[in-house]
Amino acid sequence: MPLIKLSKPKTHDKLNNARQTFFEVMKPYRFILLVMCWMTVLGTFSGIVPIAAAESSPSSKVPFPLLDLEIPDGPLGEAIQFGEDLVMETQTLAKSYVGNGLNCRSCHLGGGTTPNAMPYVGLPGLFPTYRPRSGKVITLQERINGCFKRSLNGKPLPLDSPEMTSIVSYMVWLSQGIPVGAEVEGRGKKPIPPSSTPPNPERGRKLYNAKCSHCHGEEGRGSQNSDGSYVFPPLWGEHSFNIAAGMARLNTAAAFIKHNMPLGQGESLTDKDAYDLASFITTQPRPDFPEKSKDWPKGGKPVDARY
Ligand code: HEC
Ligand code: HEC
Repeated sequence: MPLIKLSKPKTHDKLNNARQTFFEVMKPYRFILLVMCWMTVLGTFSGIVPIAAAESSPSSKVPFPLLDLEIPDGPLGEAIQFGEDLVMETQTLAKSYVGNGLNCRSCHLGGGTTPNAMPYVGLPGLFPTYRPRSGKVITLQERINGCFKRSLNGKPLPLDSPEMTSIVSYMVWLSQGIPVGAEVEGRGKKPIPPSSTPPNPERGRKLYNAKCSHCHGEEGRGSQNSDGSYVFPPLWGEHSFNIAAGMARLNTAAAFIKHNMPLGQGESLTDKDAYDLASFITTQPRPDFPEKSKDWPKGGKPVDARY
């Protein structure tokens, strides 16, 4: 058996050796090297040599894919299908982990297949990642549980549960062909420019009654079937997302509303309408989240957080 040496090399010794040999070898060519350095400096300033950093920037974007995908046969296909069903019908299929009237798809429209509505496409290649809200590096599973605890005002899934494995399988399946580390166009929510005047929640209430209440109900309670299931999800009150959810933040809610609501008529509201609506909705009563005091332990709390 060949021995594999796993211990870390002593970098200092190695570096010093490398330095010595490099300088010895290059001694006769000092002048040429100097000229080459100057050419690079001049070239960079006059735009001849492109700066390589631009290409390796972490925010490389790829177009949102067509998602013309087929679920494979067999056990993996069953897991992917269960994952899709879970994000569409979270209320029914993961009942004991959900504490309100929402499903994942209530916000992740089309089950995470819609740009600018927090799509799931490409996410497995972007986690683990550092999250200022947690103050540490988190996995995709922990991020999913963040939405279970806050957006669904519920409980985290056990990390090794079939539910968690299936949701991750579904996200991986949706992300075929997206390079690791690349973001799709339309990831997250598409921010809208900050409003020049402070948002007006009173105007927001009037807009809500005119444009939203026929689906989301009086007092934001949503509309329910006779069996208690929701046809349209609640926007505030005890059956909505809690105060620590992303959607409880002014800028997040405004961006989501502008691009996606009223359902099927995204982009029909002005930016001011979206801000006024968001300022009204996000200041209505909703469930608390006691763990919120542990958020942003190392600073970086966004200005629009409600606590
Ligand atoms: C009330 C709306 C809402 C519901 C319901 C919801 N989420 Fe989210 N989710 C969000 C928002 C808003 C964000 C983006 C937050 C941010 O980054 O500002 C997000 C982000 C995410 C992310 C990270 C996305 C990224 O681009 O990094 C994942 C993964 C996720 N949610 C999974 C889920 C799952 C799974 C469910 C169901 C168990 C769920 N969410 C339910 C609103 C919601
Ligand atoms: C035609 C019915 C309809 C209208 C009108 C409508 N929505 Fe929605 N809205 C929905 C549905 C349905 C969902 C959930 C999507 C899903 O489950 O596929 C939703 C989801 C939402 C969500 C995220 C989920 C939640 O419960 O918080 C917000 C926020 C929202 N709508 C705000 C608004 C605002 C603001 C308006 C008015 C400008 C509006 N909607 C108008 C049907 C509608």
